[in-house]
Amino acid sequence: MQANFKKIKLKEYKPPDFSINSCEILFKIKSEKTVVTTKIYFFTKSSEKDLVLDGTNLDLKWVKVNGEDITIDLLKLTENSLTIPNYLINQEAFIFECATEIDPKTNRTLEGLYYSSNIYCTQCEPEGFRKITYFLDRPDVLTRYKVRIEAADPVLLSNGNLVSKGEGYAEWSDPWPKPSYLFALVAGNLEKLEDHFITQSGRKVKLQIFTKPGKENLCEFAMTSLQRAMRWDEIVYSREYDLDIFMIVAIDDFNSGAMENKGLNIFNSKYILADKNMATDVDFENIERIIAHEYFHNWTGNRITCRDWFQLCLKEGLTVYRDQAFTAFIRNAQLERIKIVKALQSKQFHEDDGPLSHPVRPEEYLEINNFYTSTVYEKGAELVRMLELIVGKSNYQASVQDFFNRFDGSAATVEDWLGTFEEVTKLDLRQFFLWYKRRGRPEVRVQESYAKNVYTLKFTQLSQKNDGVEADPLQIPIVVGLLTNEGKEILKDKLIILDKLDISFSMGGLNSKPIASVLRGLSAPVSITFDQTELELLTIAKHDTDAVNRLMAIEELYLRNIEKLIMVKQPVPNAIFEMFSEIAEEDEIDLGLKSQFLKTPSAVEIMKFLCRSHKNIDPDVIIRGARKFRNQLAHRTVESLKNLYGSLTSNGTYDADHEQTAIRDLKLRLLDLLCYVDPSNMAARELFNTASNMTEEIGALRILIRHKNATQEVAQFYAKWENNELVIDKWFSAQAIYTPAEIAPKAVQFLTKHKNFNWQNPNRFNSLILGFATSNLGGFHQKEGEGYDLVCSWIAKTDSQNPQLAARLASTFERLRIFDKDRQKKIERNLSDLLNMNNISRNTFEIISKILNS
Ligand code: ARG
Ligand code: ZN
Repeated sequence: MQANFKKIKLKEYKPPDFSINSCEILFKIKSEKTVVTTKIYFFTKSSEKDLVLDGTNLDLKWVKVNGEDITIDLLKLTENSLTIPNYLINQEAFIFECATEIDPKTNRTLEGLYYSSNIYCTQCEPEGFRKITYFLDRPDVLTRYKVRIEAADPVLLSNGNLVSKGEGYAEWSDPWPKPSYLFALVAGNLEKLEDHFITQSGRKVKLQIFTKPGKENLCEFAMTSLQRAMRWDEIVYSREYDLDIFMIVAIDDFNSGAMENKGLNIFNSKYILADKNMATDVDFENIERIIAHEYFHNWTGNRITCRDWFQLCLKEGLTVYRDQAFTAFIRNAQLERIKIVKALQSKQFHEDDGPLSHPVRPEEYLEINNFYTSTVYEKGAELVRMLELIVGKSNYQASVQDFFNRFDGSAATVEDWLGTFEEVTKLDLRQFFLWYKRRGRPEVRVQESYAKNVYTLKFTQLSQKNDGVEADPLQIPIVVGLLTNEGKEILKDKLIILDKLDISFSMGGLNSKPIASVLRGLSAPVSITFDQTELELLTIAKHDTDAVNRLMAIEELYLRNIEKLIMVKQPVPNAIFEMFSEIAEEDEIDLGLKSQFLKTPSAVEIMKFLCRSHKNIDPDVIIRGARKFRNQLAHRTVESLKNLYGSLTSNGTYDADHEQTAIRDLKLRLLDLLCYVDPSNMAARELFNTASNMTEEIGALRILIRHKNATQEVAQFYAKWENNELVIDKWFSAQAIYTPAEIAPKAVQFLTKHKNFNWQNPNRFNSLILGFATSNLGGFHQKEGEGYDLVCSWIAKTDSQNPQLAARLASTFERLRIFDKDRQKKIERNLSDLLNMNNISRNTFEIISKILNS
């Protein structure tokens, strides 16, 4: 039993007793071991406190205080800490020195200092620095670092500016005080792509992107993205870069997407390396976004950091909001909003509806790594967006600028953030603050009435219970539009703030009852209950000026009718097929939007829709229903499908910009449907064979796999790309996700035996196992439980090496309660076995115990 994992609580936060004036760290990296020698200049006002340093699995060699050797026996050493008793310190300012020995080569947690394809690198957020040396490893202790690296590798990097470099060593000095989680070090044989950026104030910044030799020409898109992000942050947020050099290093083994270490970002190589042959349009957009995200952290995260890890949303929510605005600026804003809304619904709503639900600012955790969630990131960004909507654009800018001025160089809280807005805008934001503290999604009921030419909408927030107590109402911004029956807009984007239990809005002088388009742009992360007829939805679906609401209406119509098809075998009405054809034939619509509007619901989306009114769902029924619907749709609309497909040609040289991306996306969507009318899948095969870019090549392969027609192409693709790891990841994930449900567990099991299935590489592991568990609904939930057994055996295996990876995989069981009893039992049995595993990690323990207790 694992009773001794300790809960960390926000309300128990205490400021540190000791601060650090500066520190000097020497790394001697040798192939068999690494010795880290640290000199820390401490300062304290509390003369009777012991100094407790964080440190995990370190081999402590010696300790000195004020230059004097201290016998280690006099210190208290535990698995996670080193205590220097007060009597050994006894003064306000003192110097602590120590040496620790670590072994990066055997460190498979990918936290702290580790080794990945011949490169030494670090990941310290949130608590990896304590795996390198003893330190106050908490975000509210900021200091300046001087680092000397001694190693045989030619490229030796750390944060800040290069001070000196010679054979076998390099010295770096970072002038900006920072917490330990922003520390970084890289040593290896690397090549680089180099360029520069001239800041607004005329300073020249050197830009370098490092990779394994031979890959530097794959960094060009990343470099351009970086330059655009730097310019955007100057123009929109008046933020200029603050060092003479900005470096990025691409690493093959990385647990997350990337990390914003000061002046030395470290990236998962899949978010750096790209050209049209090996990367898809989605990859390009991700690279652009993540490069921007990490760069934007330089101000929102690094210059202003977080007081404690409960405040994670302060840097992540705000930085996601900033990267979203950047992407909207350089691509199509409406389409980007749609993608954000879809991702929010599929990940954050999903999380919020299950046992892992937590507030954007959580109040307790066992393992902070489990809180890098879509709630903290994506819902966190939604809160910033709502704040801007409520206070207005100019107030938002003024407040953010004031926040930069006030908190630069410090570790702040959500209270500091909202407090600044209150002072600048003179608004009372105490009610808005509830958004940060309350988990779950509020429900808003909409009722309408029409009499004597006056139309009234009444919004009611259904009262939520917060730990059994009736909760205060939230402040919910609701953007509304009104359409006539013919779809003409008669009211555009009216902002209504629902800040009591209910509120009404009326408009007079109307000759007939209008159609309401509510919550435009998903103006708040809430669920709406509003009884609109299919006829009204059709009008919104075809005519709304708000792209998000058009899409929501289209999806609602599909889903209502798929439900009837599945549950009572009621045929899908013509109107649905006609709507599809009309959209397909619509002129003057952006093709990226058109592609979204022509998307049919996935099995997972259907399942979530059915959950609203049905219990104990059998996924097999859904898979069959989804296939049947798509098949009917394809047959009924085949003419418009073919016409539209034939009209899509992208000429000119490849570009991953919005226009071309939209065409390729639409083309693949149509091609998938066309396969239902041509069982030989000729068109898909042809695209596979003639594709001149990865988007179409892997896109066609996915379609062929899904339609059980790809044996030869799967082998062909492998032979062509065998030596490109990032492309082989796509090969694994295409099979994991698109292999038809009945044969998927076997196919995945078989692939785990493949010579290129390197389970210790997170990209490869996630491509196959996580891809299967998150995106192959029918395969994962096969009746006999083969999918569960497979996934759980991999949780057990990875947990001993890389707990972050194991916990992420374990969270795929979070919604077990929506399935039939039989499946629930099988899952419970598997999860209980895992919970009883010897040495289960804190990460996996926290996730599984929450799921089982639900
Ligand atoms: N701060 C990084 C980012 O958002 C992510 C770090 C992920 N760390 C983790 N433990 N999951 O860019
Ligand atoms: Zn981030």
